[in-house]
Amino acid sequence: MEADNKQILEEALSRRTIAVISHPDAGKSTLSEALLLHSDAITEAGAVHGKAGRRGTVSDWMDMEKARGISVSSAVLQFKVGDAVVNLVDTPGHADFSEDTFRVLAAVDAVIMLIDAAKGMEAQTMKLFEVCRARKLPVITVINKWDRPGQDALELVDEILTRTGMRSMPRNWPVGDSGHMLGLLHPDAMTMNRYVRAPGGAKKVLAEPLSAEVAETEYPEDWQTAVEESSLLEVDDQFYDREAFLAQEATPLFFASAVQNIGVEELLHFLMKEGPHPQAREDAEGAPYEITSDFSGYVFKVQTGMDKAHRDRIAFMRICSGVFERGMVATHAQSEKPFPTKYSQQVFGRDRTTVDTAWPGDVVGLVNASSLRPGDTLYAGQRVMFPPFKPFAPEHFRVGKTGDASKHKQFRKGIEQLDREGVIQVFFSERRGQQRPVLGAVGPMQFEVVSARMESDFGASVSFEPLDYSVARDIDDDAADILRERQDCEVLYRSDGTPVALFRDPWRLRTVQRDHPHLLPDPPGSRT
Ligand code: G4P
Repeated sequence: MEADNKQILEEALSRRTIAVISHPDAGKSTLSEALLLHSDAITEAGAVHGKAGRRGTVSDWMDMEKARGISVSSAVLQFKVGDAVVNLVDTPGHADFSEDTFRVLAAVDAVIMLIDAAKGMEAQTMKLFEVCRARKLPVITVINKWDRPGQDALELVDEILTRTGMRSMPRNWPVGDSGHMLGLLHPDAMTMNRYVRAPGGAKKVLAEPLSAEVAETEYPEDWQTAVEESSLLEVDDQFYDREAFLAQEATPLFFASAVQNIGVEELLHFLMKEGPHPQAREDAEGAPYEITSDFSGYVFKVQTGMDKAHRDRIAFMRICSGVFERGMVATHAQSEKPFPTKYSQQVFGRDRTTVDTAWPGDVVGLVNASSLRPGDTLYAGQRVMFPPFKPFAPEHFRVGKTGDASKHKQFRKGIEQLDREGVIQVFFSERRGQQRPVLGAVGPMQFEVVSARMESDFGASVSFEPLDYSVARDIDDDAADILRERQDCEVLYRSDGTPVALFRDPWRLRTVQRDHPHLLPDPPGSRT
C-alpha cells in the first residue's frame, strides 16, 4: 500500500496514545475499563476489570499479578471512539516497577493521572508527576472516587499546585461534597449533569443534563457552592488554556467516580478533542523525526510467556512515523540487521489479532522478536535511531543462584532473557563467576517476578543471596581499575559491558568521591 503524507497525517491526527497512571489502588484499572465502556469497546464492566478473586482484567495475565492484585506488565488496549483510535497503554502501578513505567511512558503522547479523592497526592503520584515532567508529557488529572468521603475539592486543587507547580484547569466541578455526589457542573456551559446510575457501575451511566435554573432549584446550596468554587478558580487564573496543557504548565482537571463511570464520558470527550496527537519524535541526536517520514518504530516493552500455550516473546513497538505494514522487512537500527515483521499482532489482554497496517501512535506486538530490546529502533528506508533507555540505577542487589545444579543451562538462558526484557539488571564479575550473577533491581518486588518467571518459563528455580549495597554508579574502565583495589566498593560489569561501582550506602559513595572526585561525578538529578 502506498500511503501519502496526507493520509499519514490524517491517521495520526485521529489517534490518541495515552497511559493511565496512578498510585496503586487509585482506580487505574477501573478507569481504563470505564473508558472502554464509554467508547463501546465493551458493553459491560466486570468482564475486563478484576483483581484477586475476580475475573482477570485484560491487562492482568500473569498469575502473580492476579494473585497479588497488582499489574506488573503492561498491556495495550486499542479501541475506537467514533472514527478515531485510542491506544491505551497500561502501566504497572507499583513503585517497584517504576523503570517499566518509565519505559512505557516513552511510548505515549499524554497521560491521565488518577488521584484518590481521600488520599490526595501519594508517594507514587509525586514520582509519576516527576516522570511526566522529565518526559515532557501533558497530564490530564482525574480526582477519582468522588462517590466516597474524601478531601475538599479546593484543597485538592491547592495540593496539586503546591506539590507539582502545575495549576489545575477544572473541566468539571463536583456538585456535592465527596461521598455526597449529586452530579457534575460544567464550567464552560454552566450546566449540570445528573447521573442515572447503573447498578454497580457495570453499564454505561446515563447523564441527565440540567440547566443552571433547574440545578439551582433542585440543589440550591450544593449548586451555589459548586458555582462559587469553580468561579473562584477562574479568578485565580485557572481558566482553560490548551497551550498551557500541552506545555505541561497546567493540568486539565476532572472529578470522577470511575467505579460508577461518572465523569468518564467528559474525560473521553476531552481527550479526543484536546489531547495531543502523535507528533515528530526526537532522534538520538535530538533532531525531530517527522511522522510523515519513512516507517520507524520504537520498542518500549518486551514480554515473554504472555501466551502460555506458545511461550513466545513479544516486543511492543510504538509506530513513530510512516506506515507499518505486516510483512515489511524493517531494519533493526541497533544491529543494522533486517527484521521481518511477518508476525505482527495487536494484543488485547489475552486476545490477539493480526495487524496488517498501523499508523503513527499505534502499538504493535512483534512476535518472536528475540533480537529486540526495550529502547531499540526499527526503521525502513531512511535510517533513524531514537535515544535508547538509560537504565535506572538499581538500589537492591542479590546474587542469583540456581536451586538445581542440573539446570545451569536453563538458569543462564532465563537470566539472560529477563535481562533483555528489562525485568532485572544483570551484573557479572570475574571474582563471582558466570554462575553467580548479581541481579540489580529498582524495587524488591522485581525479584519476585524473576523467581516466578524463571520457574514458569524456564523451569529453573532461583535462590537469592542478599547483598548489602544500595547505590550503583556507572563508571569507565579507568575508574574500574582504580576502584577495584578498594575495600569499600565493588566493581561489576553490567551485561552490556558497562563497568558499575556498587556502594553499601550514599556515605560510602561520598567517601570514595572525596578520594577520587573525577571518577564518580554525580549524575544529573541524582538523589544521593
Ligand atoms: P489500580 O488499578 O489503580 O490499582 O486500582 P483499581 O482500579 O483496581 O481500584 C482499586 C480499588 O478502588 C478497587 O476496589 C476499585 O473497585 C475501587 N475503585 C476504583 N474506582 C473507584 C471509585 O470511583 N469509587 C470507589 N468507591 N471505589 C473505586 P477493591 O476493593 O480493590 O476491589 P472491588 O471493590 O472492586 O472488589
